[in-house]
Amino acid sequence: MSKHFAVFGDPIAHSLSPRIHAAFAKQTGIPLTYVAVHAPAATFESQLADFSSGGGAGANITLPLKSLVVSLCAELSDFAGRIGAVNTLTRRLDGHWRGDNTDGPGLIRDLTARHGIDLTGQRVLMLGAGGAARAVGFALLDAHVESVTIANRTLARAVALADALGEPDRVTTVLQTALDGMTPFDIIFDATSAGHDGADHFLPPQIFSSKTVGYHLSYGNASSGFLAQAQAAGAKQTIDGLGMLVEQAAEAFRIWHGLRPDTDVIYSELRSNASGILVSE
Ligand code: ATR
Repeated sequence: MSKHFAVFGDPIAHSLSPRIHAAFAKQTGIPLTYVAVHAPAATFESQLADFSSGGGAGANITLPLKSLVVSLCAELSDFAGRIGAVNTLTRRLDGHWRGDNTDGPGLIRDLTARHGIDLTGQRVLMLGAGGAARAVGFALLDAHVESVTIANRTLARAVALADALGEPDRVTTVLQTALDGMTPFDIIFDATSAGHDGADHFLPPQIFSSKTVGYHLSYGNASSGFLAQAQAAGAKQTIDGLGMLVEQAAEAFRIWHGLRPDTDVIYSELRSNASGILVSE
């Protein structure tokens, strides 16, 4: 019998998750349904309750609901608890929700397994200090990077994130406008929402060298401004968030169904269709 899954978010119309999970289902022969549900924050809790009483077995949670959903979980994974955000819900036998966060593992898997990047000892610059940056920060520190410099438009938010990460020897903060004086980093992550607002931020070219990897957590138009700046500044490699999206979905699939699907086929399919028309969730 088919189990029912959904992704909740606002906006959600362009979500690739139904397509990715349908591909995994086909590949593994596991019958399931997976739909996208438009859920504004004000109505999400009752929509999730309806989904649960209708037999929903699991759900992905995307913006702006990842923190909100924490209080609706009876149990959290260690990583979800530390970052205070959930992107994967699994209905337990007693009907209550367990919350996981597969964004961190998805990012690490994309960097290491798909792109062959060894994170150990890397000097990282992270642009942004919101929810996305928080998941990345914890995941990178767990993956043994040497240091994380958090640069943000609002310094107080960068400092608050650094405090939450709790590793003062490895984490420093800087106002984004003060990046001018800094030497190149090994990897630069853009975890801001600047590209989504159509207001790309300007980055001083000298923070990139021919050894720098530029990674944007989104894909499609939201990432193009950052990736173009990284390329123009001579970065070794630029990567958008499509691989991370596919890998976090695969990790959710593993949690729900007990086996990890191969991600290369759907990744290549989405990539070949992409040509700039993808809109990040
Ligand atoms: P998310 O959960 O997606 O991370 P968020 O919590 O709203 O979203 O955080 C958005 C991040 O993008 C913040 O770091 C924000 O900077 P501020 O803390 O100063 O608001 C950053 N951001 C958004 N628009 C930006 C822009 N035009 N230039 C630079 N940073 C921007």
